[in-house]
Amino acid sequence: MFKDDLLQNRTILVTGGGTGLGKAMAGRFSELGAQVVIASRKLPVLEQATQEITAITGNPVLPLQLDVRRYREVEAVLKQAVERFGSVDGLVNNAAGNFLSPTEQLSPKAFDTIIDIVLRGSIYCSLVLGKYWIAEKRPGTVLNIITTYADTGSGYVVPSAVSKAGVLNLTRSLAAEWGHHGIRTNAIAPGPIPTKGAWQRLVPDAAAEERLRQRIPMRRLGNQAELADLAVYLMSDAAGFINGEVVTIDGGEWLAGAGQFNFLDRLSPEDWQQLSGKLRR
Ligand code: COA
Repeated sequence: MFKDDLLQNRTILVTGGGTGLGKAMAGRFSELGAQVVIASRKLPVLEQATQEITAITGNPVLPLQLDVRRYREVEAVLKQAVERFGSVDGLVNNAAGNFLSPTEQLSPKAFDTIIDIVLRGSIYCSLVLGKYWIAEKRPGTVLNIITTYADTGSGYVVPSAVSKAGVLNLTRSLAAEWGHHGIRTNAIAPGPIPTKGAWQRLVPDAAAEERLRQRIPMRRLGNQAELADLAVYLMSDAAGFINGEVVTIDGGEWLAGAGQFNFLDRLSPEDWQQLSGKLRR
C-alpha cells in the first residue's frame, strides 16, 4: 500500500512503543524507512522490541527509558534522540493506562495515575516537541492515540475517558494554534484491537471478547496492522493538509451503539416477517 521509503529521513518518537499498538506502529514506521525512538518505563521491554524491529526492517531504533509523567525525562528523551538522529519530526502519544472498575470503587490515586499518564503525559510530550519545533522552525507532526469513548464518554473506564477527552481537546486546540508553524496534530480513535496489555486489563475472557465482536457491525475485531497503516498515513506528507482530525477505526462500533434502532440487527428474518405484519396494520 505504501512506498518502501515513504518515511525515510524521518525520526518518529512513539511513547509506549515497546508493546502493543505502540510497537506495531513503531515497527511499521521503521519498515517504511523511519528512524524510530521508542520510549516507555521498562527499558528491557524496549530493548527486546528494538531487537525484533531492527531484525525485520534493518533500520535504526533507539530505545529510551521514559515516564511520560516526568517533564524533565521527556526533555531528556528529545535531547538524546536529536543527538542520535539529528532531529525528531514526529510524535505519537500512545502511552496509556486503563482499568475496568466501577467508578465508586476507585481511589483518588487511581484517578491521578491514569490522568497523569494519559492526559498529563500527552501534554508534556506535545509541549516539549512543540517548543522544539517552533524554536528550530521545523515542521512537526503529532498523532494522539485516543479512543472512541473520548467523544461519547464511557462508564467503568472513567479515569481513561476523562483523560482521553482532554487529549481529544488538546488535538483540536493545538491543531488550530500550531498549524501556522507547520505542526499538524491529529488523532486516531481505535475501537477494540487485541493486544496483550489491553486484553489483560479490559477483556477478561472469551465470552467478553465475543460480546465485543457482536457489538461491531463488521462482526470482527480490528487488527494492529490496520491501525499501524492508518498511523503511517497520518504521519506522512500524504496527509499534509489533515490537521485537527480524529479518524475512527472501529468497524462502525460506536455508531452502532448510538443509533436508536440499531439493536434490531438481532432480529431474525422470521422476526422481521412477524414485525412487518404488525407494523403494516
Ligand atoms: N482497578 C482499580 N484501581 C487500580 C487498578 C485496577 N485494576 N490498578 C491500579 N489501581 C489503582 C491502585 O490501587 C493505586 O491506587 P491506591 O494506591 O490508592 O490503591 C493507583 O491505581 C495506582 O496504581 P499503581 O499500580 O501504583 O500505578 P502504576 O503507575 O504502577 O501503574 C497502571 C499504572 C495501573 C495504569 C498500570 O496498569 C500500567 O502501568 N499500565 C500501563 C499499560 C496500560 O494500562 N495500557 C492500557 C491498555 S488499555
